[in-house]
Amino acid sequence: MTRKIIIDTDPGQDDAVAILLAFGAARGEQPELEILGLTSVAGNVPIDFTTRNCLMLCELADRTDVPVHQGAEAPLQRKLVTAEHVHGPTGIDGIDRPEPTTKVAGENAAQFIVDTVMNTDDVTLCTLGPLTNIAKALELEPAIVGRIPELVLMGGGHFAGGNITPMAEFNVFVDPQAAAAVFESGLKLVMMPLDVTHKAISTPPRIDAFRQLGTAPGAAVAGMLDFYHRYDIERYGAEGGPLHDPCVVAYLLEPELFSGREVNVSVETESRLCMGATVVDWWRATRREPNCVVMSEVDADGFYTLLVDRIRRLG
Ligand code: BDR
Ligand code: CA
Repeated sequence: MTRKIIIDTDPGQDDAVAILLAFGAARGEQPELEILGLTSVAGNVPIDFTTRNCLMLCELADRTDVPVHQGAEAPLQRKLVTAEHVHGPTGIDGIDRPEPTTKVAGENAAQFIVDTVMNTDDVTLCTLGPLTNIAKALELEPAIVGRIPELVLMGGGHFAGGNITPMAEFNVFVDPQAAAAVFESGLKLVMMPLDVTHKAISTPPRIDAFRQLGTAPGAAVAGMLDFYHRYDIERYGAEGGPLHDPCVVAYLLEPELFSGREVNVSVETESRLCMGATVVDWWRATRREPNCVVMSEVDADGFYTLLVDRIRRLG
């Protein structure tokens, strides 16, 4: 079955790999995915760069037919926090590509999400950045909740804690009010937290496997990951960087690579020290109803095998 998706994203090298994985899975006689659009959001870098990066990735994958809709330039209530210290000033430093010539299809991502979901059955949402666009879409049309089979998100941390503060993961921290709206919405949620993504490390041999594809997308992935993993190696003393966002798309393709638990997740929106923390009720300490499947484990070798295989399909 071909699954219809919208990818909401703030590229980001790891977002870029997730998008290329999705484009690879959309190739062939029996595509696994149909990508209805990319929606950009401010996060890792400001909106002009995340939109430009979406357009560049569509050109790299030879998929300029996929519309890119620009989204929110700032979180719902807070000042934008960015992560150039991780991703470089463009967000996808390490890629060697010309500036895109394709233009955006629209500048209201939330409206695009609403229109697409209300007019097309079974659209899965994949979110790789702050949840601002999704919260705005929920505000515009609450009935989208009943029409979306699943929203798979990269965000939050559980036992792993945070990466932008001791308690908060970047995507949730940037727009905690939006994240809280999504977790309280009734949407069917699957969450890929730092606990999972820090088990999917881009070691040098894994990066080499992309380079050895001998293709433009393979070289782009290897170049971006060479840049991206420097920060994490220094910070965490790991063999490479955690490949966060591709876990979302990999889950759609091979869910058995992941395991977790259906639990309640609430988002802290008021505390000074814990702003943006995802409070995961793993041991059922409260009576709060489960609202999310929180993943905790990944088969990292299987995950990288899947990535290389689908990115190979891009030629
Ligand atoms: C998340 O934040 C961003 O830096 C990455 O692209 C990923 O979506 C990880 O915390
Ligand atoms: Ca991201």
